[in-house]
Amino acid sequence: MDQQRLKVLLDIEHGIIQAPMAGGITTAALVSEVSNAGGLGMIAGGSLEPEALRSLIRETRQRTDRNFGVNLFIPREFEVTDAAIVRAYERLRPAFDAFGLEQKPVTPPAPEAIEEKFDAQLDVIIEEQVLVASFIFGVPADDQITRLKEAGTVILATATTAAEALQIETAGLDAVVLQGSEAGGHRGAFLGRSEDSLVGLMSLIPETAARVEIPVIAAGGIMTGRNIAAARVLGAEGVQMGTAFLAVEESGAHPMHKSILTESEDVPAVLTKLFTGRQARAVKNRFISEFSAYQEEMVEYPVQRSLTQPFQDASKESGAPDYAMLLAGEGKQFAREISARGLVEALVAETKESRSDI
Ligand SMILES: Cc1cc2nc3c(=O)[nH]c(=O)nc-3n(C[C@H](O)[C@H](O)[C@H](O)COP(=O)(O)O)c2cc1C
Repeated sequence: MDQQRLKVLLDIEHGIIQAPMAGGITTAALVSEVSNAGGLGMIAGGSLEPEALRSLIRETRQRTDRNFGVNLFIPREFEVTDAAIVRAYERLRPAFDAFGLEQKPVTPPAPEAIEEKFDAQLDVIIEEQVLVASFIFGVPADDQITRLKEAGTVILATATTAAEALQIETAGLDAVVLQGSEAGGHRGAFLGRSEDSLVGLMSLIPETAARVEIPVIAAGGIMTGRNIAAARVLGAEGVQMGTAFLAVEESGAHPMHKSILTESEDVPAVLTKLFTGRQARAVKNRFISEFSAYQEEMVEYPVQRSLTQPFQDASKESGAPDYAMLLAGEGKQFAREISARGLVEALVAETKESRSDI
């Protein structure tokens, strides 16, 4: 395995990628500091309007001369009826009552509008000459890949199985982000059901590294240099870390989200579809415990997200974790509230101590 090829491809000093994390977490300060420290900072662009994405790219560029990346969500089909929304709302009523909130009418977005937004986001990446574009929930269409390649963009996409990694390689992308079942945040499964695509990195890295030629970047539960060394031994050329960077000083995560990572040592980070309609790993709280039985009565992404957003916000504002979506991976107890640069430097030193490199 060529240990340098990923670093050359991404033009970085260390094979450490700060995971894109939607929801205001990947501030310009976070992304630029990771890149300044020799890793690759990633802007989460998935839920941003194209012009907001452009502003964030420009703000980040003012803080670093190094490269960074932008991540987008591949649009997926969904089917949600008005009757299903009424049913889901009915089930969710106690969560609204807990904060004295009203259930406002929700109109599902038109598929064309989602496609249009995605296309405009791609235009921004190309116009702003961002070096790295990464994707989750699928693979871009052939013409979109061509557009990015003509602009010289390096393209990454997320896989949760070796079969998805093969599809990413066949589409001509440059590297695969391999998301193990340990990972915090939404599951990137796009070929099979997400429930059937839950393989731990211990098995997933060697299987995938044996089946694809492109570099494998491991993601999920990686919090320390020991984890990085293990991923390297298993066949990964780099790592993508979310939860570890969520806790750092420059991250835009809510303070409660940061502190709960280490304060909830014996509370698991579990998989649930309750918050957004798409399976995601989050710190178990009252909402997940009390509503899990109704999971199948909820609606699909992205509509479920709109239904639950009001009480998620209210929960955070009240300073209680009970109804908030606190995405986190299985290694959350190893989170450190230090600077982004401090974390990258510590990780590199720890990886070396574990007799590996990154
Ligand atoms: C709060 C949070 C938000 C996330 N948002 C995104 C996202 O917008 N796009 C994406 O590709 N992955 C997203 N992820 C998943 C990460 O890319 C990565 O797979 C995961 O963080 C790895 O597991 P770890 O959190 O244990 O390091 C998110 C993860 C977290 C924890």
